[in-house]
Amino acid sequence: MRSRAQLPTAPTDPPIPDDRALDVAWSHLRHAPQGVLAVDRGGKILTANPAAAKLLGYDPDQLEGEDAARVFRAPKGEGHVPPGACASAEDSREVEVVTRSGDILPVALRLLPLEGRDGSLRGTLALFQDLRDEKAREEQWRRRDRLASLGALAAGVAHEIRNPLAGIGTSAQLLKRRMESDDPRSQFADLILEEVSRLDRIVESLLQFARPTTPKLLRQSLLPSIDRALTLVHEVAVQQNVHLRVERADRVPEIYMDHDQILQVVLNVLMNALQALTQGGEIGVRIGPARKRAAERSALGRRATDRLLERERPPLQDVVEVRVRDNGPGIPATVLARVFDPFFTTRTQGTGLGLSICQSIVREHGGAISIESTVGQGTTVTIDLPVEKRHGDRRGSPR
Ligand SMILES: Nc1ncnc2c1ncn2[C@@H]1O[C@H](COP(=O)(O)OP(=O)(O)O)[C@@H](O)[C@H]1O
Ligand SMILES: [Mg+2]
Repeated sequence: MRSRAQLPTAPTDPPIPDDRALDVAWSHLRHAPQGVLAVDRGGKILTANPAAAKLLGYDPDQLEGEDAARVFRAPKGEGHVPPGACASAEDSREVEVVTRSGDILPVALRLLPLEGRDGSLRGTLALFQDLRDEKAREEQWRRRDRLASLGALAAGVAHEIRNPLAGIGTSAQLLKRRMESDDPRSQFADLILEEVSRLDRIVESLLQFARPTTPKLLRQSLLPSIDRALTLVHEVAVQQNVHLRVERADRVPEIYMDHDQILQVVLNVLMNALQALTQGGEIGVRIGPARKRAAERSALGRRATDRLLERERPPLQDVVEVRVRDNGPGIPATVLARVFDPFFTTRTQGTGLGLSICQSIVREHGGAISIESTVGQGTTVTIDLPVEKRHGDRRGSPR
């Protein structure tokens, strides 16, 4: 073997390697959850473990012999493993790696010396760990923090606006009443009243967002809430030349839910779809039972999701899934990442509170809401509501 020939001091062959040590090294390489890449002094990959190949998007045997600078590089282009050999173990640091498909993966990277058994430096060992879940969790916490302070602020502002608004409304009404019915100035009073009621609606959503009422959870079917929402948007749909198509599974289990609140969620989502379909189109609503993890994982930035990643792998649960799909213009990725942010809107008449309210209601129900979208094809909103077993039902417990 080449490495033996290079040994400077060994007068004879090096000692036969300890089998146990090799077994440990081999097992670690095969099964370690983090990626392991061994890179020689010339920058070629000597070996890569399955996790490394998977994270970078290659087949396990594709990486050997490749240029580390090419397959293990930062978005700006430079490789993560400097030329030559790593002299001493480095601290772990957070970097981004471009995968084979061009995705950017946040990883914790640690470089270690790659040493021969004789202690000679052969290159660099790169250990790296996927940080997507951790990032998602951090983002979730930041978001909660932001929401909490925003909620308090919104409640304060809404409260302050409400009283003067009521005063303006009443005064405009009085003015109008004192005018003759053909008085041309009464149109100004009408304008004031119209705008006051628009502001009132905004304040109402603000308050709802800031202090969501606790849902009154009753075991019931959600089909009536959906039917009601469909009836309410039917007229607008006809006017806009939008075809509504509904598919129900044969058996849709009852869930614990608040009719008014779920109606509001479905209505918000349908209104968003209709607002996206100003040129006409189709909205498909599909309702059926499903079995899912409490919150599905997704690649960062790919999908705006109500991520609840408290536990590593949330248990499977029975849910009723409502999917609302439109064939509108779709949402670009930069917008998609923000649609659940309160006050984020792309519409001049929007408040940006629709989806935020949907999210807080669905959360109160123990469910999840997510949006997927492809520009040019359309948008799908998925709402999962748990068929909760309610362990706390206390039926059998002593008084
Ligand atoms: N079905 C959809 N198609 C395209 N864009 C959508 C859709 N649903 C939501 N959006 C985008 O998400 C944004 C936020 O929605 P929302 O929270 O309901 O607030 P608003 O409707 O007041 O703008 C919208 O302004 C729009 O850009
Ligand atoms: Mg909306």
